[in-house]
Amino acid sequence: MRERDARLFLRSLREEGVEALYWEPSAQASSPAPVPAGQDTRPGTEQKAPAEKRPQPDTSADREPKSQNAADHLRESMLEIYWKAQNCQLCSELCSTRNKVVFGAGNLRAPIVFVGEAPGRDEDEQGLPFVGRAGQILTALIEEMGFARKDVFICNTLKCRPPKNRPPQPEEIANCRPFLERQLELIRPKVICALGTFAAQTLLKTEEPISALRGKLHNYQGTPLMATYHPAYLLRNPSEKVKVSADLKLLKQELERL
Ligand code: URA
Repeated sequence: MRERDARLFLRSLREEGVEALYWEPSAQASSPAPVPAGQDTRPGTEQKAPAEKRPQPDTSADREPKSQNAADHLRESMLEIYWKAQNCQLCSELCSTRNKVVFGAGNLRAPIVFVGEAPGRDEDEQGLPFVGRAGQILTALIEEMGFARKDVFICNTLKCRPPKNRPPQPEEIANCRPFLERQLELIRPKVICALGTFAAQTLLKTEEPISALRGKLHNYQGTPLMATYHPAYLLRNPSEKVKVSADLKLLKQELERL
């Protein structure tokens, strides 16, 4: 069963557009070109070189393996914590009630990572983040920013569903924090979006309410972070969507500026 979940995770990475991580010299024709040294090819950060100056795939022997090694290392490091999360028993209640550990999904080279609160019922069943009603809203917001879900990485503060969707407890957040921090350390997004109170307070190590945190850029270990309302809040308060759209617009502007 767990092998099946790992395969599901890997397949979700592929389906969500991380073929570059699976790039192999023998598959050049059908795969994205390897990343030229020093060039950032994350979605949304393409460098608009004139056609004649467009970087050509560099097939020099000393760069190909480096790129492949970096991709392998990233994928393997992510898989290492994926397995740690799958086997985690730190929160006795959550690991006895969870159906699946929801590690996160998306592009490991995403320029932006969205961090939610915790899996809900749909996510706990499928093992994937934001696949329920709140997920539909998040997808629409991502698309409004000009991205597709395959361009970004989505994860949660807690990797296991709290029973009946109760709020995460401080000890659970503390137990799960290393997974989130390592995910961000590996992906190295250009910007981060914290969705809702728990993600924002956890990443910013503050107790300020989301209403005070949203709308301006913060700093998470050197990476610009925008806090905004959680998509589930928008289900109950649709008129607040304008504020979330404004927050995400600011974040996109910051991303384009970097
Ligand atoms: N709410 C969250 O915070 N995360 C999910 O994955 C789903 C709903």
